[in-house]
Amino acid sequence: MAKEKPLLSIQNVKKVFKTRDGELEALGDVSFDVHPGEFVSIVGPSGCGKTTILKIVAGLLAKSAGVIHVDEKQFDPTRDVGFVFQAASLLPWRSVLDNVLLPIEILRMDKAAMKTKAAELLGLVGLRDFEDSYPNELSGGMQQRVSIARALIHDPKLLLMDEPFGALDALTRAHMQESLMEIQNELGNTVIMITHDVDEAVLLSDRIVMMTNGPAATIGEILDIKLERPRNRVELADSAEYNHYRAAVLKFLYERQRNPESNDSSSTPDDAESAGEDRLLHVVKGTEAA
Ligand SMILES: Nc1ncnc2c1ncn2[C@@H]1O[C@H](COP(=O)(O)OP(=O)(O)OP(=O)(O)O)[C@@H](O)[C@H]1O
Ligand SMILES: [Mg+2]
Repeated sequence: MAKEKPLLSIQNVKKVFKTRDGELEALGDVSFDVHPGEFVSIVGPSGCGKTTILKIVAGLLAKSAGVIHVDEKQFDPTRDVGFVFQAASLLPWRSVLDNVLLPIEILRMDKAAMKTKAAELLGLVGLRDFEDSYPNELSGGMQQRVSIARALIHDPKLLLMDEPFGALDALTRAHMQESLMEIQNELGNTVIMITHDVDEAVLLSDRIVMMTNGPAATIGEILDIKLERPRNRVELADSAEYNHYRAAVLKFLYERQRNPESNDSSSTPDDAESAGEDRLLHVVKGTEAA
């Protein structure tokens, strides 16, 4: 992988939201580079600012300070970006097929010529027979799969995905992960994906960006995942290297959540070992009542 010139360089980005209760500093100081063809995952506790970063990168939200440098020789940030939002965000008055074709219309590309590709992508996400359906006729997970097909329709060089598989059942999720690895291998897209799923992050990523708790969230650690590709989830389950990475991410998330003041990752709480991983994941996802 070419490491010389980043596709995207995020430097000291800060975000302050103005709220009814005053100012909220969501992002303190966030810096990382993304290289061409790289798959970068962002993990971190709920509310730490992951979506905020992705929206700033996509130009959907203004940053309060810092610089985002884009190598415009490598890609055009107005055309070559695909975004999968945390919620499916389909247009309810358009059919599934016309939702997938939306970026083609916006970019004034040839819509008729892209219909076959849209149908292929719908096949890829398991919705071959739903081209003419409307979003309100689909389940939440199906809607999310339409939005994944929509994000891929114009072969984006940079794919930004905000918990793209969060609403899917385990089997569909695994299938979508495989498809994403194949697509990325074939097209060489650069991907930034937010996920709460540690296994998904390790399986898919070249690097995992781990964020600290907000407010004023920042990057705690960046983990290089040096597992060979193509990757096979069944083989990896028994791999010591894979399990080492997995444990490193869990340890980071767990310690920061339990001990947000601490930047010292060696300070494991005494009862850390006894906590079940299920609970841990709930804590990480923010789905467990405090
Ligand atoms: N438009 C907004 N106005 C005010 N505050 C906001 C706005 N958007 C986000 N925030 C705040 O910024 C912080 C980060 O939000 P963000 O959505 O980026 O978190 P996240 O890491 O994506 O969380 P999750 O994992 O739950 O999706 C939160 O405290 C949130 O309340
Ligand atoms: Mg989010």
